[in-house]
Amino acid sequence: MTAAGHGGELAARLDAITIEQLRAGGTTKWARPDGAIGAFIAEMDFGTAPAVTAALHDFVDSGRFAYPPKDLGAQMRRATADLLAREYEWQLDPERIRPLPDVLAGFVAALRHFSAPGTKIIVPTPSYMPFLTAPATEGCEVIEVPMRAGPGGFADDLDAIAAAFDAGGGLLVLCNPHNPTGRVFTRAELTAIAEVVQAKGGRVFADEIWAPLVFGGHRHLPYAALSEATAAHTVTAVAASKGYNLPGLKCAQLVLSNDEDAALWREVGFLTEHGAANPGMVATAAAYDRGGPWLTEILRYLERNRATVADFLAARLPRVGFHVPEATYVAWLDLSDYDLPGGPAAFLRERAGVACTPGTDCGAIGAGHVRLIFAMPHPLLVRALERIAAALETHAA
Ligand SMILES: Cc1ncc(COP(=O)(O)O)c(C=O)c1O
Repeated sequence: MTAAGHGGELAARLDAITIEQLRAGGTTKWARPDGAIGAFIAEMDFGTAPAVTAALHDFVDSGRFAYPPKDLGAQMRRATADLLAREYEWQLDPERIRPLPDVLAGFVAALRHFSAPGTKIIVPTPSYMPFLTAPATEGCEVIEVPMRAGPGGFADDLDAIAAAFDAGGGLLVLCNPHNPTGRVFTRAELTAIAEVVQAKGGRVFADEIWAPLVFGGHRHLPYAALSEATAAHTVTAVAASKGYNLPGLKCAQLVLSNDEDAALWREVGFLTEHGAANPGMVATAAAYDRGGPWLTEILRYLERNRATVADFLAARLPRVGFHVPEATYVAWLDLSDYDLPGGPAAFLRERAGVACTPGTDCGAIGAGHVRLIFAMPHPLLVRALERIAAALETHAA
C-alpha cells in the first residue's frame, strides 16, 4: 500500500527520509563507522510533534535558561496529571508528580530509596538492558525471572516471581508496555502480579515509559492505579520521551501514589529532581497537552511498519520466532533455529549490515535472539528485512 494510505502527508515525508540524511544527523544509531542500518537504539527517526517544536522555539526566545522557574515545573506536573486522568482515569494531585531527568534516574532512585537495603531486584526477562546492569552500581543483586512464551505472546511467570521474593527479592521491575516483547499486560495479568507482590510484602518499580505507543485493540492500564494495594507498593515512572521522541531533552516524571513515598521523597528527592531540564519540561507539557494528533499519525505509521515486519517474516523467514508486539516499536526476534556463528546480532551486523541489540543483553533467556527497532522510514525497514533474509537464506543454503 502507498504511504498515502497510511497517514497521508506525514507518512509520505517519513518515507522520503534517506539513510544519508539520517547519517548526517550524527546520532549513535545512524552515524556508525560500519555503515550498518541502525536498529538497536530505541528512538524514532521521525522528529517530534509540531506542537513540541513550536513550544521549544518559544522557550528559546524566552531565554529562560536559569535553574527551573517554578511555573515550568508546575506546568509539566499539571500536564502530566491531566494526561493520566484523560487517558487512564488516574486522578492524582499534581504535587505527586515529580520531575526526573529520565526514567533511568527514577529507577536508580527506586533502587536507593524504595527498595529495602540488602534485598534483591527481581527483573523479568527478556528485559530492557539497564534493568539488569544498573542495580550492581547501587550494590544490588538482580534475580532474572524468565518470562514464558505462549501462543499469545510473553507472560510473567508468577510462581517464579513468588520464588524470587522468597529468595531475597524486594523490588519487582514491572515494565509495561513491555520492552522488548511488546506486551501490554491485561488487567487480569496485572492483578495476578499484584497479588503475588502483596502476599510477599514486596515493592514494584513500574516503568510505563512506553504507554503512549500502544496499538489498536490494546489498552494500557497504569499498575499503581489498579487498587489501593498497588498504589501503596508502587513507584511509577512515565515520560513523553518515547512517544514524542524527546530523550535528549532530559525530563521524565516519577509518580508517587502513597503518602509514605511522597513524604520520603520530600527528604531525599532533591538531587534527582535537580537533573530535570527546562526544555524537557516545556516539551513534555506541549506533548501531553497538544501532541495527540501527531502521535496518532505516528502510531499509524508504526502499525504499518509492524505489519511489514510480521508479513515479511511469515512469508520469507518462517523459521524466525516472532510475536506481533501490542505496543512499542521493538521486535523481539528468535533466530535460534539458525544457530548463527558468533550469535545473531554479530551475524546480522556483519553479513546483513543491520545493527540490532544482542538478545543476551536482555538476559540469559535472550540467547539466539535480537531486538530490532522498527521506528525507521518504511523503505529502510524493507531494505533491512531484505538484507536479513538474504543473509539468513545464504547461511541456511
Ligand atoms: C523500558 C524503558 N525504560 C527506560 C528507558 C530509558 O528511558 P530514559 O531515557 O528516560 O532513561 C527505555 C529506553 O529505551 C526503555 O525502553
